[in-house]
Amino acid sequence: MHNLLKGKHGIISGALDPKSIAWKVAERCHAQGATFTLTNAPIALRLGTINQLAEATGSKVIGCDVTQQADMDRLVQESQEVLGGKLDFVLHSIGMSLNIRKGRHYTDLDYDHMHKTLDISAMSWHRLLQTCYKADAVNEGGSMLALSYIASQRVFPDYSEMADAKSMLESITRSFGYHFGKAKGVRVNTISQSPTKTTAGSGVKGFDAFYDYADKMSPLGNANADECADYCVMLFSDYTRKVTMQNLFHDGGFSFMGISQDVVEQMTKGM
Ligand SMILES: NC(=O)c1ccc[n+]([C@@H]2O[C@H](COP(=O)([O-])OP(=O)(O)OC[C@H]3O[C@@H](n4cnc5c(N)ncnc54)[C@H](O)[C@@H]3O)[C@@H](O)[C@H]2O)c1
Repeated sequence: MHNLLKGKHGIISGALDPKSIAWKVAERCHAQGATFTLTNAPIALRLGTINQLAEATGSKVIGCDVTQQADMDRLVQESQEVLGGKLDFVLHSIGMSLNIRKGRHYTDLDYDHMHKTLDISAMSWHRLLQTCYKADAVNEGGSMLALSYIASQRVFPDYSEMADAKSMLESITRSFGYHFGKAKGVRVNTISQSPTKTTAGSGVKGFDAFYDYADKMSPLGNANADECADYCVMLFSDYTRKVTMQNLFHDGGFSFMGISQDVVEQMTKGM
């Protein structure tokens, strides 16, 4: 163990069940000596699984629907009280598409659903940053991190409105990253993660095909949730003090590929 996060305090959102990327991040941060609060939407807390993680990591769970400003204020305030000081790292690991969930095609979106999707999956990132910024809740050198997906920049038709949410998430990272860096010396980044077998991931139509295609295209294969958690730890650590406003690909090389031999072989099978 390296104790890369010894003495650091944080907030980790989005741990729904043991498959969640945030769940792995919490386990890794705990193993590296960090203390943190866990948060999720009240409805997710009712499922109860997060309590196992809280017990294993000695963390307090604070409910927060990220579309509600009062919830967010309370989360940031209470976390500092519980942890005994300002924060050093915050993970935003939250995404949900109502139109995908309801099976609405991208050319037939319901805009009330879309508002909600953008609110939960992208504006919540701004809300989290702004709430921490205004409350002066993050220590200088602190690290704010959200999770993105390459559909923000390239077209993956079934990712639908979540592609637009992720574009906004990455844009907020740059825009707020400037202000947070300049005023308070805080880093703001996103990790663009490979397709990962979680509840949110598997909700996307054709997910298994996405997953296999990306795996075949990437020279290192898809990055899994544990590997993503390790990368998050590095970005929370003091080893990345001058990395900010970036969208960092954690995808086994997928983002720079044109075509791979594995995909050629797959396409020419039976020809
Ligand atoms: N799984 C993938 O293939 C993949 C790939 C790249 C990026 N990501 C991103 O990683 C992040 C985490 O997703 P995951 O794959 O671990 O799935 P997950 O389903 O385990 O996590 C999504 C979380 O968002 C939470 N959430 C939804 N609505 C909320 C609200 N109103 N308030 C607070 N929390 C709310 C859910 O309760 C859940 O814990 C998401 O941003 C997702 O888009 C996932």
